[in-house]
Amino acid sequence: MSKIRVALIGAGGMANRVHYPSLVEFGDVEIVGLCDVIEEKLKATAQKFKIEKTFTNYKKMLEETNPQAVYILMPPHHLFDLVIHCLNQKLHVFIEKPPGINTEQTMQMALLAEKNKCLTMTGFQRRFSPLSVAAKKKVDERGLVQCTAFFVKNYSGGPYYAGATDILTCDAIHAVDNLRWMGGEVKKVVSDVRAIDTTYNNVFNAMVKFESGAVGFLVANWIVGKRIFSIEMHGKGISAFVEPEVKSIIYKDNKEEGEVTLAKDAAESAELYKIAGFFAENRHFIDCVKENKQTITNFSDAVKTMELVDRIYHSQM
Ligand SMILES: NC(=O)c1ccc[n+]([C@@H]2O[C@H](COP(=O)([O-])OP(=O)(O)OC[C@H]3O[C@@H](n4cnc5c(N)ncnc54)[C@H](O)[C@@H]3O)[C@@H](O)[C@H]2O)c1
Repeated sequence: MSKIRVALIGAGGMANRVHYPSLVEFGDVEIVGLCDVIEEKLKATAQKFKIEKTFTNYKKMLEETNPQAVYILMPPHHLFDLVIHCLNQKLHVFIEKPPGINTEQTMQMALLAEKNKCLTMTGFQRRFSPLSVAAKKKVDERGLVQCTAFFVKNYSGGPYYAGATDILTCDAIHAVDNLRWMGGEVKKVVSDVRAIDTTYNNVFNAMVKFESGAVGFLVANWIVGKRIFSIEMHGKGISAFVEPEVKSIIYKDNKEEGEVTLAKDAAESAELYKIAGFFAENRHFIDCVKENKQTITNFSDAVKTMELVDRIYHSQM
């Protein structure tokens, strides 16, 4: 079986913590090269994952290593030129969220990917968390009526990347994307977005009506007690409460006792990158490259999540 040739750009936090640990576990992936502009990070990451060929210039790496797919893992304001270059080389591309700093960038990336028949993926790993996937399947069997995406943090670090992007686009987008994943196509949005004690928006409320008739609620704010991410899905005779990195409880048919599943049991691992869905999202990308099939979080799909972010800003009650 031939291996998928993958080149890696970025030796930063997410690369080291969740993506490269996943890739090195796959027997059908060959990492052909690693690039970073910071020599120390390049060396340390290459050593950790036993990557032979290292580069400080990504164009040189692509020319010399002839990959099929490229991971481009860096903050959103550094991303665009590299993604466009790789798509122009007709390479398949994996990026982290957010897919650019605004919808226009994501749209241009999506259009070029479609034109050049590139497979693409945005790292919305919360669609791949084993607990969430299992709970969604159970609720979908009965028909979703309501859902909630709840994402809160205790944050006072100033504007994201010195103001290059905003909290909703860069980070709370996980909850926005999970709403779309649970509810489907968006019909109507009403919202309340505020800045509490800051110069940037840090509190986001939205009610989203989906084409299916189901309704979704976004509750996101960066001023509370601690970081919590959870989703709820309610359908006919079923309610699922999921903290993807902790546990899920599913109640059915008016029974008092819920069915409790621990995240580590669903993921068959205590490793966060497996529990949180990173391992599964990387597996999905590689499988799609092997089968020449578009991923579920491809750039065109990511445009819809960015558009929902825009609608939340522009639908203030
Ligand atoms: N999915 C999640 O839950 C999650 C969590 C945290 C961060 N993220 C996202 O992951 C992305 C990456 O974040 P990070 O914290 O890993 O970034 P980072 O800053 O730790 O790493 C980025 C690396 O890219 C390198 N780089 C930048 N430009 C380059 C270029 N032109 N050529 C080669 N290397 C270059 C930098 O030197 C750096 O080492 C961000 O968009 C962030 O929002 C996602």
